[in-house]
Amino acid sequence: MLTILLSILLLITNHQEFNKKGDIMKFELVKLPYETSALAPVISKQTIELHHGKHLQTYVNNLNNLIIGTKFENEDLETIVKKSDGGIFNNSGQVLNHNLYFTQFSPKGGGKPSGKLADAIDATWGSFENFQKEFEAAGVGLFGSGWVWLAKDKDGKLSITKEQNAGNPVTKDLTPILGFDVWEHSYYLDYQNRRADHLKELWKIVDWKAVDKRY
Ligand SMILES: [Fe+2]
Repeated sequence: MLTILLSILLLITNHQEFNKKGDIMKFELVKLPYETSALAPVISKQTIELHHGKHLQTYVNNLNNLIIGTKFENEDLETIVKKSDGGIFNNSGQVLNHNLYFTQFSPKGGGKPSGKLADAIDATWGSFENFQKEFEAAGVGLFGSGWVWLAKDKDGKLSITKEQNAGNPVTKDLTPILGFDVWEHSYYLDYQNRRADHLKELWKIVDWKAVDKRY
């Protein structure tokens, strides 16, 4: 029994990462709810491995190091995004953005939203198909790197918001519901310059059950 407990403890210790101060890292890399190859061909295994394992891990590491000794050291992620600027904002924003992004997909995804979210989308855009068109157009029309979001306000009113770089709707007092990453690192290996094609394909893997819960 003791041997098993010691083995488990060793396993946990080995998996912990430390910041530059030597403390256990406050923010951790979000766990994928699917295998890295599960979203192919919409998103390839190689893209997931780089995007999640390298790009997001770097944002997490940077954030953990940047907050040392600042007023953000003991704050939660959303508060940091709302109140910070500069490097702390860029890295916390990207951690929040990617946490939402990677947990909204499933190999069994696709189809349409249901329930209240479906009703709200129909009421705002007339149909799910119209919403998809406007969402894709917003993503294609965003110059440079950034995100396109479906967000809701305090009354549940929906809107599509475009955010440059690390932006997230929480800075506008909105709740992010669904986010497509339009940074080239999210699609370039699989789609090269064809951002529009990539956005169109993403609908096939959206996990509407996970997205519905955010609404
Ligand atoms: Fe990204």
